[in-house]
Amino acid sequence: METRILSQNQLNEVVHDLNCDGVVAFPTDTVYGLAVRVVSKQAILKLTQAKNRPQDKPYPLLVSSIQQIEAFAQLTHRDRQLIHQWMPGSVTFVFRKNPGLDNDYFAESTTIAFRMPTDLWIKTLLDEIKEPLLLTSANISGEPAAVSSDEVIASLSGKIDCVVSGIAGCGIPSTIIDASRFDLQLIRKGTIDMKDIEAKSKTVALACDHGAYPHKEAIKVRLTELGYTIEDFGTFDNASVDYPDTVYPAAKSVSEGKNTWGIVMCGTGIGASITANKVTGIRCALVFDKETAHITREHNDSNVLAMGGRLVDEKTAVEIAEIWLNSPFSNDERHIRRISKLTDVENKEKTHER
Ligand code: RB5
Repeated sequence: METRILSQNQLNEVVHDLNCDGVVAFPTDTVYGLAVRVVSKQAILKLTQAKNRPQDKPYPLLVSSIQQIEAFAQLTHRDRQLIHQWMPGSVTFVFRKNPGLDNDYFAESTTIAFRMPTDLWIKTLLDEIKEPLLLTSANISGEPAAVSSDEVIASLSGKIDCVVSGIAGCGIPSTIIDASRFDLQLIRKGTIDMKDIEAKSKTVALACDHGAYPHKEAIKVRLTELGYTIEDFGTFDNASVDYPDTVYPAAKSVSEGKNTWGIVMCGTGIGASITANKVTGIRCALVFDKETAHITREHNDSNVLAMGGRLVDEKTAVEIAEIWLNSPFSNDERHIRRISKLTDVENKEKTHER
């Protein structure tokens, strides 16, 4: 097979090669990548032979949006925050496979790895192909990664269909993190430090009114001791304030991925929870005891916790906050279905005209 060298302007030819069961190489923000269509058994075999890679090791998916990830994976709130916070970028996340996925290549997999590079050219390519591609580094298995088209040609000429000329980014492959369980696990070191990813996933927005000011302060002290980073939206003393003024920006920061979690409080917790639940993507649970703190994470994958400062004492509020933050979502099918119906309700309401 002749390996053609193409320029980035020849996007149509790259698309054509991919659609004709081809293997193509192009520069990414880390190293040179090799891609094939996920539905092409012939291309996957060609890719595996070119790289001399074990057949049972699945390739990551190259995606351009969270919607493309959602079609293949079952995402929890924490997973969505990881995506908002770190993608696109030089990180690969492993998520749980969407159990309803009908795809031969991933039939035996329980997890799938996803990579979303920053390159606009790759985004355009994915838009043209209209589906994610399988992606791997453009080198023989076990050999150093390639950063230039010359290096790719030197090792893979005659084994792949085309190489798009250019220079890859930093030359260091992406950091790989297994996020398929609640505790993140480092699979491969890269430019992004695992500690930074963990630290960001331990960010908490705190807000209260005068009815729970001491509770917020106690929670702030304890969570800081435990290694959480707190963004404090107030209030900052016992003077009377209106709970929407502090709670809304805190909940908004969670919905935008700036903070991973939120804890909001007022005298009863009712006003705070109503406020937070008006923010898109927020599932705020009003909790009065440790048991329901655990259950709401398991069942509702709640992303904001509400408590009432006049109904729980400070010590209990701190314990509830800790339990809530440490409880994983169950990932049970029935709970996933119900949460997805909540999102449907939210979307219907967005388009509802009064
Ligand atoms: C403030 O007095 C009180 O209304 C507020 O803290 C909260 O309980 C509202 O739901």
